[in-house]
Amino acid sequence: MLVSGTGTNLQALLDTVHGREAEIVAVASSVAHAPALARARERGVPTRVFARAEHPDRHARDRAMADWLQQRAARLVVLAGYMELLGEPFLERFDRAVVNVHPSLLPAFPGLRAIEQALAYGVKVFGVTVHFVDAGVDSGPVILQRALELPAAREPREVLDALRPLEHSLLPDAVRLFAAHALAPDPHNPRRIVIDPGAAAIQQ
Ligand code: GRF
Repeated sequence: MLVSGTGTNLQALLDTVHGREAEIVAVASSVAHAPALARARERGVPTRVFARAEHPDRHARDRAMADWLQQRAARLVVLAGYMELLGEPFLERFDRAVVNVHPSLLPAFPGLRAIEQALAYGVKVFGVTVHFVDAGVDSGPVILQRALELPAAREPREVLDALRPLEHSLLPDAVRLFAAHALAPDPHNPRRIVIDPGAAAIQQ
């Protein structure tokens, strides 16, 4: 997993799929002292910090991080509040095996401050997306989405608090589906990710 901050999504995975349908084998952070790191250590998951300043450039940092993740035999890379972009070479090494959780109904409001963008636009329906990561910003194929009507919301904090439980159930569901090999691109439209009907029970 890649993190930069609080790590509530990491915690949700530690509390649900970890040691059951999947194993969290490593947690890398772009930020030293990110609270997420303590959550991983608490459960005995190896952690490492890959700070930008310690590498000649972004690609060197990505390379070092990919090496470490592959040494730990990671098959899926989960971005959970990871605040950096990943370059093509990293994504090629984890082909169709990098996922991200984003607090909007993509393609609306990609990038930073998604909830603030949605409030400024005046939407009445918010939501969460889990998607495969490509080289763009929150632009890869959608795996799971869930919407929430909040017609009276005004404050980012109240929207975030309302979306948290959605994130914390959608991300583990996506990891379970990946672990069960239940995700595949539609041959007629590779942007559309088809969920194996036999795995429907996996989503909780
Ligand atoms: C989440 O809101 C996620 O959607 C976004 O970054 C936040 C990470 O939160 N990509 P946490 O560090 O998992 O608590």
